[in-house]
Amino acid sequence: MSGEQPTPANNSLFKGIFAGRRVLLTGHTGFKGAWLALWLNALGAEVAGYALEPPTQPNLFDELKLADMIARHEIGDVRDAARLESVFAAFRPEIVFHLAAQSLVRRSYSEPQLTYETNVMGTLNLFEAVRGCDSVRVVVNVTSDKCYENREQDYAYHEDDPLGGYDPYSSSKGCAELLTAAYRSSFFGPEAAVSLASARAGNVVGGGDWAEDRLIPDCVRALSHGQTIAVRNPGAVRPWQFVLEPLAGYLFLAASMWQGGHRFDGPWNFGPDNNGEMPVRQVVETAVAAWGSGGWQGPDAGAVEPHEARLLKLDCAKAREFLGWQPVYKATTALAATMAWYKAFYAGDTDMVSVSQADIDEYVKWATGGRVAWTR
Ligand SMILES: NC(=O)c1ccc[n+]([C@@H]2O[C@H](COP(=O)([O-])OP(=O)(O)OC[C@H]3O[C@@H](n4cnc5c(N)ncnc54)[C@H](O)[C@@H]3O)[C@@H](O)[C@H]2O)c1
Repeated sequence: MSGEQPTPANNSLFKGIFAGRRVLLTGHTGFKGAWLALWLNALGAEVAGYALEPPTQPNLFDELKLADMIARHEIGDVRDAARLESVFAAFRPEIVFHLAAQSLVRRSYSEPQLTYETNVMGTLNLFEAVRGCDSVRVVVNVTSDKCYENREQDYAYHEDDPLGGYDPYSSSKGCAELLTAAYRSSFFGPEAAVSLASARAGNVVGGGDWAEDRLIPDCVRALSHGQTIAVRNPGAVRPWQFVLEPLAGYLFLAASMWQGGHRFDGPWNFGPDNNGEMPVRQVVETAVAAWGSGGWQGPDAGAVEPHEARLLKLDCAKAREFLGWQPVYKATTALAATMAWYKAFYAGDTDMVSVSQADIDEYVKWATGGRVAWTR
């Protein structure tokens, strides 16, 4: 890939549809939501966010000073249907991205009820708020690659495969997909003003994630305290996708729906290429090398962990062929960018808004050099 193409102006990316557009985003205080809010803001959108308080301390939302940056910042619960509806009525969004969720597999074992209430009934409340608000044209519901019935085989799931989920989190995302399909056929069909799609992506890496039980956050927490990193599954091979990859997919999907309407309705996978796969051990060693010191240890013999899907791959042919979306970074580039962000953060005297904006600019530069469709 060459960097020879001039980087397009922000307002021409994603078919140029976001400048001046009213966009409501749930989950903007979370990891992916904060990155998406920053990017939408840079694209010129008028952004409203609706979410609970940031889930961790520290967190990306505060580091990016998003409460001051975006047009409207609402602390609210997606389980509170009336409150959600009042925010829709006041802001009158044109495009909606739904990212608010109880997003952790392990927490879903200790709090299954909260997980289903948030991820399923919260999504239902959001769809009802959309139904009651005639300004909305496009809704992208963010679920997960874990929504599929996992066969634990070397198989890449495509959008028509059966839904399922072993643990409450995965199952709640399968339920959210069924709910999306039911609302599309019942309320947001070909005659409706609203186009509805869902986006299924896998685990992502990037600066500013401090969630529990995720590998890179676990690494930086330990490294920043001078502790040994405890690694549960060093031998597991997983896909590692940079956080901006699925976000570019969500943005391009919404832009395509804005222009092409119901042609783009339905589910979409956004996953990495095979060069996005890497063993956990190698990821940890890359993180330690980037940090400059530290070490790790595997699990104690006989340690019992709750069930988590081991093999999970997505077939992204639909997004490639019909949207023109494609991954931009290899796993090595994604990890290098991620660790550089955390090093800047822990160095203590850095403006993380500028660091994060530079990460977006660099990613756009590579996408432009690769002539990826959303840059043209
Ligand atoms: N991070 C990943 O690797 C990954 C992978 C696949 C799918 N996803 C999905 O992407 C979305 C965003 O993930 P993330 O990593 O940013 O998660 P996160 O845990 O960092 O953030 C979750 C967001 O949801 C909000 N939230 C939680 N419960 C809420 C409630 N009841 N009402 C309102 N807001 C609530 C939180 O305040 C936060 O803003 C989620 O739907 C998640 O399931 C994430």
